[in-house]
Amino acid sequence: MAFRWDDAKENYLRTRLQDDPQTPISHFQEYFGISYNAVRFKMKRMGIQISSVRKGEVIIKPEIEEEEADPEEVWKAYEEKNEQKIARHKASGRYVAEFPHEVIGVSFISDQHIAGGNVCDLKRMREDAELIAGTPGLYACLGGDSIDNHIKHRAAILAARTTPGDQYELFDHYLSLFSESILGVITGNHDDWTPQVAGTDVIASICKQHGIACSSDEARVAAVVGEVEYKLAWRHKYRFSSTMNQTHSPKQWYRFGPEPFDIGCVCHHHETAIEAYMQHGKQTWVCRPGSYQINSAYGRQGGYNDSLPACPTFLLFPGERRIIGFADVRDAVITLNAERMP
Ligand SMILES: [Fe+2]
Ligand SMILES: [Fe+2]
Repeated sequence: MAFRWDDAKENYLRTRLQDDPQTPISHFQEYFGISYNAVRFKMKRMGIQISSVRKGEVIIKPEIEEEEADPEEVWKAYEEKNEQKIARHKASGRYVAEFPHEVIGVSFISDQHIAGGNVCDLKRMREDAELIAGTPGLYACLGGDSIDNHIKHRAAILAARTTPGDQYELFDHYLSLFSESILGVITGNHDDWTPQVAGTDVIASICKQHGIACSSDEARVAAVVGEVEYKLAWRHKYRFSSTMNQTHSPKQWYRFGPEPFDIGCVCHHHETAIEAYMQHGKQTWVCRPGSYQINSAYGRQGGYNDSLPACPTFLLFPGERRIIGFADVRDAVITLNAERMP
């Protein structure tokens, strides 16, 4: 049946354009099943002009009419996507590790600042990694600033003797020395410059190749040793840092953080410290590792003393909640080996 305009159709055209003056002509084409020019002609006769019709003989319109996105659908799509993001965020950096009924050791190592031709103690770093790999029941938690990675500050790039690419290769080799013994890696501010500047997380990619868990900023491991669960937590940085009291920051992390821990470690200061103190009737341990970067131009200019590359290490017992802390992994190995003797 041929199309004919009537009062109802004219009324729809008029009220639709009153309600939404941006309604494209294509909408009426589809709605009435008539041509573009038929709609335009009718509108002209009714004295209606819309933005896609110019006065005179020239008609200009988009080649493809743009369909405006339905805000309800856009919201719904983002709602689902964000739900997944929140779930991933909540699970990020959280692990469970189960160990046999034996004493184990957990060593916190950070601020390697791996770089060639620099004041970085690669010898001690390698020896510590080999010691951990060669000691049964000894594991490492890596706390960030794995490589020096000066890609953010131009002056530091000029002063660097090796490129970030060279340093990533050295880090890859370093992980291979004791990858079987590493519980997890987190990134520090020096590592994070690459994702910030280049949009790619190279540390995470290298860890993935070694089958090592990696997360940014923070990790928590529920370590089940025999019959006891120990909550290990480590971060590269935390608020409330104090030069006067190096364990102040991890203690405040216990107070203000999302959940308590048995051993809490905050890195980044390059000044090692370890302390046992009481929280809710339980002996709780906090620490900061030192750094293999003995000093730097930044450190010397600021008057910082040389760093001690110490890795606070804790023995965890399987039959009852008992933790013994040592200032460095080399001290802990002696007792760990004695405790594990058959
Ligand atoms: Fe550092
Ligand atoms: Fe740092």
